Amino acid sequence: MPNRVIIGSQWGDEGKAKVVDFLTLDADIIIRFQGGANAGHTVKVDDQEFVFHLIPSGIMHKEKVCIIGNGVVIDPRQILIEIADLAKKGITPDGRLFIADNAHVVLPWHIAMDKLKEKKAGKDAIGTTGRGIGPCYSDKVNRHGVRVGDLLDERELRPRIEAIAGFRNQEFDLMYGAPPIDPEQVIAEFLELGRAIAPFVVDLAEMLHGMRKQNKRFIFEGAQGTILDVDHGTYPFVTSSNTVAGSACCGSGLGPTLIDQVVGVVKAYTTRVGNGPFPTELDNAIGENLRKIGGEFGATTGRARRCGWFDAPVVRKAAIVNGLTHLAMTKLDVLDSFEEILVCTHYLVDGVAQQTMPSQLSKVGRCQPVYEKLPGWMADTTKCRSWNELPLNARSYLKRIEELVDVKIGMISVGAKRDESIIIDLD
Ligand code: GDP
Ligand code: IMO
Ligand code: MG
Repeated sequence: MPNRVIIGSQWGDEGKAKVVDFLTLDADIIIRFQGGANAGHTVKVDDQEFVFHLIPSGIMHKEKVCIIGNGVVIDPRQILIEIADLAKKGITPDGRLFIADNAHVVLPWHIAMDKLKEKKAGKDAIGTTGRGIGPCYSDKVNRHGVRVGDLLDERELRPRIEAIAGFRNQEFDLMYGAPPIDPEQVIAEFLELGRAIAPFVVDLAEMLHGMRKQNKRFIFEGAQGTILDVDHGTYPFVTSSNTVAGSACCGSGLGPTLIDQVVGVVKAYTTRVGNGPFPTELDNAIGENLRKIGGEFGATTGRARRCGWFDAPVVRKAAIVNGLTHLAMTKLDVLDSFEEILVCTHYLVDGVAQQTMPSQLSKVGRCQPVYEKLPGWMADTTKCRSWNELPLNARSYLKRIEELVDVKIGMISVGAKRDESIIIDLD
């Protein structure tokens, strides 16, 4: 099996976890490389459902190794919650879950700051998940963050926490009138958390080098989606990390020569959770229908996801900035009862055709989607397990999307469960 990066090609929640869990059958090691507990990755196996925020979605396969790479921002409390949830269902990550000692830690100041900033922004809020992601990444880049390895040694942790407390508490008071957070309490709590996660913490570089030498097969599990990327997305309505495939290398410590394929996960339609532009949004009964049939409610915050038609300029942009080799199309079954289906082929901006999602927010706001109407298939696809079993109109829909985006569809998902999948060509 090739080494694969699996990333979201829209605004997140494309069904990445379903695809990762399925493709893990052929892999040895699954690595998360960016984002944090803002991610909500749902895996359904038989009648069990798990939502992972930090632990890679491959963990359900009992013999596979899962790694949380240096590019992830880690809330250790969340990891412990996920480990406890897994234990309740008889799955133990002992000896096969590893956390990079140089990954940054989400601290109570980060979570508080995320919420304070959003509240103050009012109608201009980004609609974050409130998980402290932006403030944690800014402290990382500002070079005064706390890393996982620091939690294992008070001599490292204490001065860093005291420094952060010094300026963050002042900021809380002056800018938000918010009460300070006691650094002593944070030190005590995070040393305790450090002891709890210590068995999983490793210096990854050498371990990954060894795995590479043994020809282990890797899956890099992306979080969020391309149009939430801090550089390539609808800035500032984005997350605070690079979500694109290139980030897999920086966020894991594995070089680009290892990567054979980049699989872009796409929903058969489009969703977005949080604020910001969304050209094909359906603020009407059709959008509500998509939400209802697709169960489009956030796996992290429970918020209703905004729904719209498939947007080719969005996925075309993803194809370019990620170098996609394949698409994995999910949730085709959600369209089973639609008599007609619209696809946005391109935008018009001030009367001029635009083929990809632009980067300037003002330009995105002026994008008028141009639609093509395709006939629905009005048949159940959830039992289909091969291309030929799919209804003719569903095949035409898929072919048209391939043509518009110019990337072949390697896999189709027709239900949330592992076996509700069709492999077309993942070579
Ligand atoms: P992720 O963040 O990209 O991993 O996606 P989420 O887990 O946030 O959201 C995807 C939702 O769709 C989850 O509830 C999945 O169980 C579900 N899902 C995934 N693939 C399919 C599919 O092909 N059909 C249907 N009906 N549901 C799916
Ligand atoms: P997965 O991995 C969908 C969105 C938030 C908000 C913006 C910034 O499950 O696909 P943040 O908390 O990251 O600062 O919020 O990004 N967002 C997601 N939307 N799926 C996600 O993850 C998301 N993670 C963040 O809703 O609009
Ligand atoms: Mg999600």
